[in-house]
Amino acid sequence: MTLPEQLRPPRGLTYQELLDADSHTVPETYRWNVPADLGLADIPISRYLSREAHEAEKERLWSRVWQIACREEQLPEVGDTFVYDIADRSFLIVRHAPGPDGLRAYPNACLHRGRALRDAPGRVAELQCSFHGFCWSLSGELERVPSSWDFPHVEPEKFSLPRVQLDTWGGFVFLNPDPNAESLAAYLGVLPELFTRWPLDQRYTRAHVTKVINANWKLVQEAFMESYHVVTTHPQLLPGFGDANSQYDIFGNVSRTISPRGVASPLIGWRPTEQQALDSALDVREDDPPVLVVPEGGTARQMLAEAARSALRPALGDAVEELCDAELVDSYFVNVFPNAHPWGAFNQIFYRFRPNGDDHRSALMEVQLLAPFAGERPPPAPEIRLGPDEPWRDAVEVLGSLARVFDQDEFNLEAVQRGLQSTARTGVLLSAYQESRIRHFHHLYEQWVPAGESR
Ligand code: FES
Ligand SMILES: [Fe+2]
Repeated sequence: MTLPEQLRPPRGLTYQELLDADSHTVPETYRWNVPADLGLADIPISRYLSREAHEAEKERLWSRVWQIACREEQLPEVGDTFVYDIADRSFLIVRHAPGPDGLRAYPNACLHRGRALRDAPGRVAELQCSFHGFCWSLSGELERVPSSWDFPHVEPEKFSLPRVQLDTWGGFVFLNPDPNAESLAAYLGVLPELFTRWPLDQRYTRAHVTKVINANWKLVQEAFMESYHVVTTHPQLLPGFGDANSQYDIFGNVSRTISPRGVASPLIGWRPTEQQALDSALDVREDDPPVLVVPEGGTARQMLAEAARSALRPALGDAVEELCDAELVDSYFVNVFPNAHPWGAFNQIFYRFRPNGDDHRSALMEVQLLAPFAGERPPPAPEIRLGPDEPWRDAVEVLGSLARVFDQDEFNLEAVQRGLQSTARTGVLLSAYQESRIRHFHHLYEQWVPAGESR
């Protein structure tokens, strides 16, 4: 069902009209324009605040849904292990053989008295528990039991590590604790088609920062699912960011926003020049010299596209000539329910949002920059961890101007949490179109965590 016409942005070009002016043919998937009419109901506030909602999520969501555990590049060699924690549970991912099928996931628990088999990532020859020494092979068969005479009731062939469903897409390792879950391919639906031209498995992690934020994980995630907040939260972007010209699309378990860059927001009361639009898009400050100069008759979008083509040429070669301006310039952000945000096109951002351990009032926000490369895959960047009081700016060396933008986002988040704890309302209000992806998230959420279990 399409939204009524009066809900569409009142000023400026629609995103589809902007694509008509692209210097290259745009991929078909850019022409998909799929708004969703999911009603106008408020979102129950208890879903963000109550311990019961968090417990229901553990039971109904995290224990059953496909979720990203790590990147494949974090386990390049046989014997590499990775520990993935979600809420109060821990899983162990192990590379037992080379190649795409060489990964396995197990509950991170010894079958003797239950100690976590691994505390941290690392390379090992076998999986030996550090408590009493029970030992399994990388592929999960029981190898040794100290004083095995004392365990006449342990039959080695029945004491393999239980497997957890694991699959990969786009260089990400997904797992699903539910043995009866649908396949990952069925779950992801249209997602691979969206990324055909930008294979994320051919990227490497150029930067990796994880930060604790004092708000429920859903609140944090929702701050990165719309461009409606840009006008107030990131006003410095407006001369070069078409916030209200954004397109919002919904596809099964996936949603996306495409926001044009290099064009001015229709919400500002003055008309920036093409140079001002370019300076804003490149984060050039008032007194700094321009990074690029728009020639007579040129546009900011053309300049951004050409700069991106040049930057990508070493990694992609002549293929960059096929890429359209939109792919090189615009913000294209995707959500894979429940918590993964791979950005599309040649944006490099990937976000993931989780509860901070078993605490429902704080979240882990993880940012990875996934860059194309030529030749041998560079090793993934080490993870930088920031506490709740350390600003994103502490990671400016790896995040660049994004660090400032994230600090602006975080400025609101603790205050949202506090406000929701104080409000007289029982629900959160959402707009019909610009916040439709948040509504879509909750629409799916209600299917996984039915009302009554989330309060
Ligand atoms: S708990 Fe692992 S060997 Fe005892
Ligand atoms: Fe933001």
